[in-house]
Amino acid sequence: MDILKVKNVSKIYSYRSKKVLAVDNISFEVKRGEIVGLLGPNGAGKTTTVKMIASLIEPTSGDIFIDGKNIRSDKKHTLRKVAAVLESNRNIYWVLTPRQNIDFFANAWGFSTGSIRNYREELLEKFNLLEVADKPVMKLSRGMQQKVAVCCALIRKAPLLLLDEPALGLDVMTTNELKNTLRDIAKNDGNAILLTSHNMKVVQDICDRVIIIKKGKIIADDKVSNLIDMFSANFFKVVFKNGNINFDFLNGIKVLKSYDQEENRAVEFELQDEDALYELLEVIRRSGGKLISIEKIQPDLEEVFIRFVAGG
Ligand SMILES: Nc1ncnc2c1ncn2[C@@H]1O[C@H](COP(=O)(O)OP(=O)(O)O)[C@@H](O)[C@H]1O
Ligand SMILES: [Mg+2]
Repeated sequence: MDILKVKNVSKIYSYRSKKVLAVDNISFEVKRGEIVGLLGPNGAGKTTTVKMIASLIEPTSGDIFIDGKNIRSDKKHTLRKVAAVLESNRNIYWVLTPRQNIDFFANAWGFSTGSIRNYREELLEKFNLLEVADKPVMKLSRGMQQKVAVCCALIRKAPLLLLDEPALGLDVMTTNELKNTLRDIAKNDGNAILLTSHNMKVVQDICDRVIIIKKGKIIADDKVSNLIDMFSANFFKVVFKNGNINFDFLNGIKVLKSYDQEENRAVEFELQDEDALYELLEVIRRSGGKLISIEKIQPDLEEVFIRFVAGG
């Protein structure tokens, strides 16, 4: 059974006399062990979606099922099965140490310190926090604080972990560490993870699947690799020498990148009309350039995302 099922869920915020349709009839499922990324521009409705799943706000319409149970009918069940980290580093206690924070949250959920000790130490080790485990959290870097917040959520071993923008404000190294640890946790502990991000690299590297959301609507839901494949047929890189040619004006060609490669010029582009490829080769020839190579390239998730969000 899916650990999470979101069915025709909408959320309208009403304030003063205004109404904002933040989430517009979305449906999706998440299985155990899966890491799913909710990706979208600012204001797309990611945080609202996560808050509804965590039972922090109520959907205006639609239903959410956690491990088969509707959260409207059994809130206790939901709260036990879902751990959420929103505004990562804000919800832990800055005067307490990482060990104390983890114990505190475990106790608050009814677990004795003795019963969680081993898992606590395991998490501190996995997240590379052993060395700072007895220092007040306020003395730690933002990245470390965010990792402590994730540990505090994981200690309950809830089967569904929700992370809102876990990589926000983290440096590349900490982000990589977080990515590896989350993958490890999904794989070995069988937890499902739903995380939001507007960072394509984070989603591409850690998620099995990505749901792209725009203006409250789901516009794509697929494996990351499938989405990339879907567009890869049309992405090319051409390398030539001599002649400084501008392809921007060519119909059917959308230039993505243009750069020097040793003494040659490389241009990466999306081909929107097959005939344009011949046109492009002709332009190079006519301007006295010499074609060195032409190859298909893999777009990254960022390019796929831009196509989806800009186009539809
Ligand atoms: N508490 C609120 N009251 C009114 N509007 C809100 C509230 N929270 C979010 N919104 C609006 O709902 C939309 C979605 O917001 P949000 O879920 O925070 O998007 P994201 O997390 O993708 O950036 C935005 O237009 C935002 O301004
Ligand atoms: Mg948000």
